[in-house]
Amino acid sequence: MKRFKIGVVGAGYVGLTTAICFSELGHHVICYDKDTEKIKKLKEGKIPIYEPGLEDILKKTYQKNIFFTDKPEEIYANSEVIFICVGTPEMPDGSADLSYIEACSIELTSYLKEYKLIVEKSTVPVRTAEWIERTIKLYNPHADFDVASNPEFLKEGSGIKDFFQPDRIVLGVSSERAKKILLEIYNEKEFPYPKIITDVKTAELIKHASNSFLALKISYINMVANFCEKVGVDVDVVAEGMGLDRRIGREFLKAGIGWGGSCFPKDVKAFIKMAEENHEDFSILKEAYKINEKRIDHFIEKVKKTLWVIKGKRLAIWGLSFKPNTDDIRESPAIKIIPRLLNAGAYLKLYDPEAMENTKKIIPPNVNVNYADSIEESVKESHAILILTDWDEFKNANLPTLKKYMITPIIIDGRNIYDPKKVRELGFLYVPTGKP
Ligand code: NAD
Ligand code: UGA
Repeated sequence: MKRFKIGVVGAGYVGLTTAICFSELGHHVICYDKDTEKIKKLKEGKIPIYEPGLEDILKKTYQKNIFFTDKPEEIYANSEVIFICVGTPEMPDGSADLSYIEACSIELTSYLKEYKLIVEKSTVPVRTAEWIERTIKLYNPHADFDVASNPEFLKEGSGIKDFFQPDRIVLGVSSERAKKILLEIYNEKEFPYPKIITDVKTAELIKHASNSFLALKISYINMVANFCEKVGVDVDVVAEGMGLDRRIGREFLKAGIGWGGSCFPKDVKAFIKMAEENHEDFSILKEAYKINEKRIDHFIEKVKKTLWVIKGKRLAIWGLSFKPNTDDIRESPAIKIIPRLLNAGAYLKLYDPEAMENTKKIIPPNVNVNYADSIEESVKESHAILILTDWDEFKNANLPTLKKYMITPIIIDGRNIYDPKKVRELGFLYVPTGKP
């Protein structure tokens, strides 16, 4: 099997997973990031993010067939295939900020003397590849290259599994040469999964359409969850009943405090913006976004209804990351709920298995906010536990012991991690989401 000299631009959640997984397959990989601190850490063999399993692979491949650099000449001159994995965050108007994509497109132009394949892995608006191509040609009319799209569908926390066993691989290509290279990299032996080979703009669109659909699906079940609370029905049972229909599917029907993370919020907004620019009204996505924003108000209302007065209450906050198995707090519902509780006068003890360091950078400890070393520590002298992320550690907590440490045994569960009957039998006042 042919092994390639692969360059990966951006050492974030996607770039690092891509680079390290390609190195596991024996490709020669150079991963480049302009963030010198990140590269310094990586050169010491340390992973600057929490993504289970990455460090173990890196131990095997580091300095054998994967290298890290903060120097553009080292990656661009030495790669045959360049995967662009830089961020595409949100602009104030909701559109995607493509300045990082543009910056690396310009940076690589002077290294295109011999043919190179440039592959977008970042999530980008439809037709971004056309702009990359145009930019490169503007700076270097003699450049020999193709731009392809290979959108990434990995989920944080299960990035390695999603890389090696994806549901599908989408390859958007504009030449036979690009198609051949990508099919060699994603060969049937190493990737025996459905492959969609299409033109570049279709591949770009598949990514936005997928993320927005998943966000819409979660908002739908959250809308149903609100109704379930009104009529005394269990949303999890409703979701099970719906999900057994293969046309609907059980996944992404977990009601809770809403979708966060670095992708769904910005990608839904960017898709709405793209539609607007093309005079299409994606009002269904606007509603999905609104429903999601209202999850925070809904949860705060639940806390008020349960505790009566929030001022002066000591609350154990379980979970800061936007979902379990990651230290990522970008657009995390927890990070939106915490200031609301503080404004209402609560004292908070925050606990998360992995995301406390990141949270301390934006919510430093003070007289009203403490960070606990353990779940036991978090609940001591507390009036209630608020569950904001569904980490396994919380699911497996020893509730009878924890109850003894609490002033009042109250659990307000934004993620429905417990069986209400069992928790109530233990003597807790248990307030789930979308359930009687
Ligand atoms: P990230 O912010 O974790 O990492 C991006 C990295 O790119 C940063 O380290 C930054 O320093 C670097 N960078 C920016 N401009 C650069 C440049 N010109 N040259 C070199 N390095 C540069 O972002 P991420 O979460 O990995 O996401 C990257 C892209 O992948 C986004 O478009 C995102 O929407 C998409 N995506 C993310 C996920 C996910 O789970 N996080 C999944 C699928 C797709
Ligand atoms: C999501 C997609 O699932 C990936 O396929 C995609 O590649 C990625 O975005 C991206 O483009 O960046 P990710 O953001 O890592 O992945 O996390 P998800 O597991 O999708 O969860 C997103 C949010 O939805 C979390 O806040 C999670 O708690 C919430 N969620 C998820 C629910 O509230 N209910 C569910 O049933 C599922």
